[in-house]
Amino acid sequence: MFKRLFIFSLFLLGLNSGCKKSSSTNTGVPNVAVNFTIDTNNPQYNNLTIVGGWMYVSGGYLNHGLIIYRASSTQFYAMDRTCTYNNSGVVQVLKSGIMAVDSSCGSQFTISSAGMVSKGPASLALKNYQTSFDGEYLTVSN
Ligand code: FES
Repeated sequence: MFKRLFIFSLFLLGLNSGCKKSSSTNTGVPNVAVNFTIDTNNPQYNNLTIVGGWMYVSGGYLNHGLIIYRASSTQFYAMDRTCTYNNSGVVQVLKSGIMAVDSSCGSQFTISSAGMVSKGPASLALKNYQTSFDGEYLTVSN
């Protein structure tokens, strides 16, 4: 009886977290190769022509995708969409265009501050990749 109750409790805990797989928490998003270049003059990347603009691109850890955010005329942030709580959730940018949230665990990140944590349980910022910009081409790499 107790064994059944224990297993049922574990099941409920699993449902509650919303995480599909168990792994250690707040240990950092594993490294994967990231290396691509965007032509910001291409109409497809129109959102990146204004400061404060952002868009999703593919790639990153488990192909969760990246958020590219234009922080200034010369600076971009390239953040992995993987929620850093336990690397299972994928963050969505809210309508404000400033915050990104993992609806599974509720962690929130400020994309205008390179993905700093604004609400736990995550304690690590979104993983950032290196960016370089020559005025037209944006290269994202690690
Ligand atoms: S719910 Fe698993 S990482 Fe946020």
